[in-house]
Amino acid sequence: MYDVEKIRADFPILSREVNGKPLVYLDNGASAQKPKAVIDAVTTAYAEEYSNVHRGLHTLSNIATEKYEAVRGTVARFLGVSDESQIVLNSGTTEGINMVAYGWAMPRMEAGDEIVLSVMEHHANIVPWHFLRERQGVVLKWVDTEPDGSLDPQKVLDAIGPKTKLVAVTHLSNVLGTVVDVNTICKGARAQGVPVLVDGSQAAVHMPVNLDEMGCDFYVVTGHKLYGPSASGAAFVRKERYDEMRPFMGGGDMIREVHKDWISWNDPPMKFEAGTPGIVQAIGLGVALDYMMGVGMQAIAAHEADLGAYAQDRLGGLNWLNVQGHAPGKAAIFSFTMDGAAHPHDLSTILDKKGVAVRAGHHCANPLMDHIGLTATCRASLGMYNTRAEIDTLVEALELAHDLFG
Ligand code: ALA
Repeated sequence: MYDVEKIRADFPILSREVNGKPLVYLDNGASAQKPKAVIDAVTTAYAEEYSNVHRGLHTLSNIATEKYEAVRGTVARFLGVSDESQIVLNSGTTEGINMVAYGWAMPRMEAGDEIVLSVMEHHANIVPWHFLRERQGVVLKWVDTEPDGSLDPQKVLDAIGPKTKLVAVTHLSNVLGTVVDVNTICKGARAQGVPVLVDGSQAAVHMPVNLDEMGCDFYVVTGHKLYGPSASGAAFVRKERYDEMRPFMGGGDMIREVHKDWISWNDPPMKFEAGTPGIVQAIGLGVALDYMMGVGMQAIAAHEADLGAYAQDRLGGLNWLNVQGHAPGKAAIFSFTMDGAAHPHDLSTILDKKGVAVRAGHHCANPLMDHIGLTATCRASLGMYNTRAEIDTLVEALELAHDLFG
């Protein structure tokens, strides 16, 4: 455990007020705030070291290229990947999954082939697969969650049949906080020769991740949830999968030679990084990951486990509040509705008046919302800098809302 006040002091925005109240930022699942180290790195990159990468032979281009390329190693360290050439830098999870859909899945799948998904996937891990369903007749096979919101890894493995070409599952539900046993899924799927894509957009923020151990084929993360800049991110691609992938986007940087009637590609990972990348975003992401590793992923997980248990206890004491998802070991993400008239949007507006930021809506997880029979919830999603006192403020604001609507 760490001194959370020391962590909070690193995040300038946390000392501001919203609607005359101290900000209580509980919308980390949507996007996390940035430590000063990241903000400073972004400013320095633009103010003192900015140039394009991989192109110039001048000093600034060399500095920018070195800093950009160093991020690949940082991401690899962060994700427990021993070979950094398996890391593609990109704009986030959505781009990462689209790269896999267009670059790997599309040319390899035909009508009747299957993709196994869980019902609690984020739209980013659903819509690209619907493209394949619509355009080439690929079948989506859905695995339901259990009543407590957990996902039985055996049910995922049982859904694999002779036509299954891919399993695509989240590591951590952005709505329920459920942590999925992806190690078991990867091991079982690989034993049947089926590659696995794991959406690590939420999980990598809250727990240590080791992809060498996990044995997945693709793993995608989002920089802005990892306390880094927006439009930063990365995808892990297992080396064997590189050999099966065609380029996703065409442009500069991803080519070796271009002629009027023939073309050749750069080696991966560059083959999958077309055009001028998010140079400064990537540099900021590297600093954010160094910051997290400096605090320690075990320490972050321990702090959030304590906070999650406290929140579970306090929210569980409100008998008019319906918290969704009680899977053992769930992360500190709490989606809820309130008995009575309060629509989640109205509820979040009232919380905002008290300075408490939460997300309301379907959380880009419509199949899950259908499965649990709701159209919307309010969601409090915690991060490394949240405190027990902030949970108390959330509970007070919910009590006020309940009095108003009740
Ligand atoms: N995926 C983000 C969320 O869950 C946007 O809010």
